[in-house]
Amino acid sequence: MRLRDLHESDFDEVAGLIHGALATWYRENLNSERFGEDASLFRAFPELYEGLDPGCAVVMEGEGRLAGVVFYHPRETHWGVGIVATHPDFAGRGVARRLMEEVIGRAGGMPLRLVSSAMNLDSFSLYTRLGFVPQRVYQDLVLRVPEGGLGVVVNDGFRVRRSEMADVERVVDFEMGLSGIRREKDFRHLIGNADGVWRMWIAEGEGGDLLGFLGAVMHPGVRMLGPGLAVDQSVAGRMLRGVLDAEFRGFDALWLVPADCAELVRECYGMGARNAELHLGSVRGSGAPMGGVVFPTFMPESG
Ligand SMILES: CC(C)(COP(=O)(O)OP(=O)(O)OC[C@H]1O[C@@H](n2cnc3c(N)ncnc32)[C@H](O)[C@@H]1OP(=O)(O)O)[C@@H](O)C(=O)NCCC(=O)NCCS
Repeated sequence: MRLRDLHESDFDEVAGLIHGALATWYRENLNSERFGEDASLFRAFPELYEGLDPGCAVVMEGEGRLAGVVFYHPRETHWGVGIVATHPDFAGRGVARRLMEEVIGRAGGMPLRLVSSAMNLDSFSLYTRLGFVPQRVYQDLVLRVPEGGLGVVVNDGFRVRRSEMADVERVVDFEMGLSGIRREKDFRHLIGNADGVWRMWIAEGEGGDLLGFLGAVMHPGVRMLGPGLAVDQSVAGRMLRGVLDAEFRGFDALWLVPADCAELVRECYGMGARNAELHLGSVRGSGAPMGGVVFPTFMPESG
């Protein structure tokens, strides 16, 4: 088996590999068919990630086909990692470990961060054996947002609005100040993308001070909120409600919140959201603790 960089000609095979890995794993371990039949939707990963981080994916070839893939996301303070997937025919043969070791080597000592399922002992074992340390538990929440919206409460002096390029610098500094990471590239991409797949909102208080930000991806293959961050749980809840109302009417929305943010979790239940899974935020190497009211995401998995 040999490692090489991902090429555009691999996109269909990679889509099939990621779909096959997830669908098989969830069917066999959790009796869940949540990933459906349509592998082509999983082209979202190579397509969207090559747009964001060109050339940052490694595949492993074996027996004349692709055995595994990993995407990585180099940023100023750290590297994000994900998605990682091994073709079910190659499971348990060290494919994911070798891909991860390649990324760890390329990162050259930078801290690595990822989000992985707390219900998947295979990925948990893979990452913790490689030195990743779980820091935070997240609840995956799902909600079909009614066509008529959720009913946003208008608060004096608080507003949630689409962000603009002019906001990028203060969003970057805001995240650095609250949770110790920088990823300017993501915000430029989310705000500036021409095809409208990515969305980015900010919450401001009276006087225009920045209280939070929340991104979203609206692609047929993945509709999800994040990345996001808020100064407190009250802001996080109001910002979340505002973005769900503005972007997700009539759609199923998925988002992650820290399980230790009880007030925010209660607000999500109040909207009718249900738990779908649990995830762990893990770090390899030194790095700021995962503080703040964060909304991590699988797309882009850069924080
Ligand atoms: C998770 C996944 C990528 C693992 O891929 P894989 O190629 O089968 O994994 P590997 O064989 O490289 O590595 C598994 C490691 O975990 C170890 N391991 C597995 N189960 C373990 C357990 N219960 N306790 C301790 N270690 C365990 C293995 O020994 C191996 O380590 P080693 O190579 O040092 O011996 C694969 O199951 C997959 O694609 N799943 C679906 C997609 C997914 O969940 N991706 C992760 C998203 S976060």
